[in-house]
Amino acid sequence: MLDTLRSVVRFGPVETDPVRRRLARAASVEDLRRLARRRLPRGCFDYIDGGAEDERTLAANEAAFASTTFRPRVLRGLSGIDVSSTVLGRAAAFPLVLAPTGFTRIADPDGELAVARAAGRAGVPYTLSTLATRSIEEVRAVSDGRLWFQVYAWRDRGLVAEMVQRAAAQRYEALVLTVDTAVFGRRERDVRRGFSLPPTIGPSTVVDGMLHPGWTLALLRSEPIRFANVVGREVGDGSSPVTLADYINSQFDPALSWADVEWLRTVWGGKVVLKGIQTVEDAVLAADAGVDAVVLSNHGGRQLDGAPATLPLVAPVADAVGGRTEIICDGGVRRGSDIVKALAAGADACMAGRAYLYALGAAGEAGVDTLLGWWHDDVRRTMALLGVGTVAELDRSLLDGSPGEG
Ligand code: GLV
Repeated sequence: MLDTLRSVVRFGPVETDPVRRRLARAASVEDLRRLARRRLPRGCFDYIDGGAEDERTLAANEAAFASTTFRPRVLRGLSGIDVSSTVLGRAAAFPLVLAPTGFTRIADPDGELAVARAAGRAGVPYTLSTLATRSIEEVRAVSDGRLWFQVYAWRDRGLVAEMVQRAAAQRYEALVLTVDTAVFGRRERDVRRGFSLPPTIGPSTVVDGMLHPGWTLALLRSEPIRFANVVGREVGDGSSPVTLADYINSQFDPALSWADVEWLRTVWGGKVVLKGIQTVEDAVLAADAGVDAVVLSNHGGRQLDGAPATLPLVAPVADAVGGRTEIICDGGVRRGSDIVKALAAGADACMAGRAYLYALGAAGEAGVDTLLGWWHDDVRRTMALLGVGTVAELDRSLLDGSPGEG
């Protein structure tokens, strides 16, 4: 009996670092989401986690990946798997771009700096949001990796032109114009809570803050959360808390049009990406306008509830514009196998935002490193199980319901 016991009992070294201990218990994005839910005040978690109105589009993005299945090929004699790809003509370690997310510091005090460093280490581009809580310059100072910059159509186009020049001076390689935010989506979780940015600790949130002392202490110890790209500007930099709906509806121009896309080209000589394309017709117009990539996106289900899920758009858009402009699929990516599905349908890369915010909220920068490591491995494993050696070989014959099915 003692021999049996000896053969089965194993005591590993005790992990003393609380972040590593937390991460050691996580194996999926859903696990990171649960950890973030525990660590963040409810208002901050719901701002990240929630979507517009009934959250149907939010759910539809994930459901589209879940209901798409593979046609794995076997006995293919693969001698190696290469998951590297190119996005906007330059190498990426695997076909992923980190999406722009506003107010990243509500998930962790390092915010955008942590995410940019993790993306650089993982070898994938990171997109900094206009509404970031670290500036264009601060982010470049911590990363030599590939950086893209996202812009909204501020009513004050002079401000846009100035930010674009700052991004060019800091060697950001692409400008991502978000086109799905003519007005702000109604995120009912935030409406119910009166959630403002930066978050406030007041009578209604004090209990929430006390229940999350780690987050509250970190917030109080770090410098104030500001809209770092517009600090000191008339448009408001977050020194007085605002609801995002009021901010966006007052500062952003709902009359954005294709003429503005042309105008952007006059102030920016680099690559232009349109984020928020949701129909084949608009993808064709974007290709006609000569943009370098379209991001098929419904803003993670945070804008128009009832907008289509993005994965089913990939194939028709690829049929209409493939080869003329790159196609990036955003929304609902929770696993590396989702990235493989989008590429097999015809995308050049995926974008993801919410998942890395869960990782950041769960375990800070180490959480984002862990997530990107999982996804890199997922893509490799999924390709191996599909019998595919390179990203270029991913095509529709590997998806159920493809013409190859018979
Ligand atoms: C900002 O872009 C948001 O979706 O909250």
